[in-house]
Amino acid sequence: MNMAYFERRGDVLFAENLPLAHIAEQVGTPTYVYSRAALTQNFLAYANACHSHGRAESGALVCYSVKSNSNLAVLNLLGKLGSGFDIVSGGELLRVLAAGGDPRKVIFSGVGKSEDEIKLALSHDILCFNVESIPELHRLSAIAGSMHRTARVSLRVNPDVDAKTHPYISTGLKENKFGIAFEDALQAYRIAHELPNIEVTGIDCHIGSQLLDDAPLLEALDKVIELADQLHAAGIRLHHLDIGGGIGITYDNEQPVAVADYLARLFKRIDHWRADSYGGAPISIMFEPGRSIVGNAGVLLTRVEYLKHGASKNFAVVDAAMNDLMRPAMYEAWHGVQAVQQRDIAARQYDVVGPVCESGDWLARDRALALEPGDLLAIMSAGAYGMTMASNYNTRGRAAEVLVDGSSFSVIRRRENPKDLFALESIVE
Ligand code: LLP
Repeated sequence: MNMAYFERRGDVLFAENLPLAHIAEQVGTPTYVYSRAALTQNFLAYANACHSHGRAESGALVCYSVKSNSNLAVLNLLGKLGSGFDIVSGGELLRVLAAGGDPRKVIFSGVGKSEDEIKLALSHDILCFNVESIPELHRLSAIAGSMHRTARVSLRVNPDVDAKTHPYISTGLKENKFGIAFEDALQAYRIAHELPNIEVTGIDCHIGSQLLDDAPLLEALDKVIELADQLHAAGIRLHHLDIGGGIGITYDNEQPVAVADYLARLFKRIDHWRADSYGGAPISIMFEPGRSIVGNAGVLLTRVEYLKHGASKNFAVVDAAMNDLMRPAMYEAWHGVQAVQQRDIAARQYDVVGPVCESGDWLARDRALALEPGDLLAIMSAGAYGMTMASNYNTRGRAAEVLVDGSSFSVIRRRENPKDLFALESIVE
């Protein structure tokens, strides 16, 4: 269980073998702290499960979802472990390249790929475009033609499966903007098959994020398999099947399915299907996990600026805010809060809030904490969709990021200073 990498020893909270207070002293706060061991373990949960089902490099590819945490050091670490990358912008592709990632292991998702982004991706000969509409197919074919290249393509189909997660992060229902409707998919594949400079290689879907149960994922897989069979009958052969990301993590007391169990069930279905329909002919499987790799591998370290004790509410005003960690304000997401140094004083109920001028600027509500001004807090499970969703609202520089390895750490992104924030602006006479 990866929470063990952020563990209390006596009264003191550690990241791996390093007291978190040590990082705050050297780097200041707010700071995102990631555990190298946790990142490694979480990635290997996928890679090892693929291996143990006889799927080595060519039979399965884990394409880490860059949007969940795109720090170069994180990308570099995962790349060295063999990860591919799921990107959603040209910027993310440039990050992957800057981190030493292999463009031939990059898949490009997203509903709004621009011409420039498509050109950039084609010039690096990425593994596959996950295409989300017929107009995108036409654009891709035209650009690839003008560059004398071939674009490998997978169509993102929308299997109309309820992921049973937060509506903002559910993507596989008919009313969502994502993917090509299931009933239109066969026709879209026919178009793709005919278009010049397009090579149809796969099929993909992604039904949502923070799924605790794998039943909706397996239901989506069944629908994708059904479609792959129809395509086969129509003479369109697929080389890979990409089931997206989505396995959730424990923020509070959720009990998500173990990655190994989910993959065991998935491979069992796929192996049966291939054995029954294709005499055992293999098909490559891809995944696009984000949160389950980085979510519990990171915390946000913050310091209490003031305590406000009131008649009906107590507030712990900390130096991190909604601009650093947007998830509570945006989704009412729950994150654990732990005092870095436990105190022997009475606990009170606190709302943990930031300095931003919005009532929505809260990180946690109604938590029993024993605090004094100046204390450090760790906002738990903040490794995914934390820093990547951070903003500069209120002209607040974004937090520093550090990577812990054993009892040492490296700064992997320095803190932004105010001048960084207006360096691109100019005054008009
Ligand atoms: N593939 C695609 C096409 C996606 O859209 C996503 C996430 C993933 C893979 C990775 O899913 P994961 O394994 O992380 O569940 N900001 C929200 C989450 C948004 C998820 C967007 N798509 C949050 O903070 O909860």
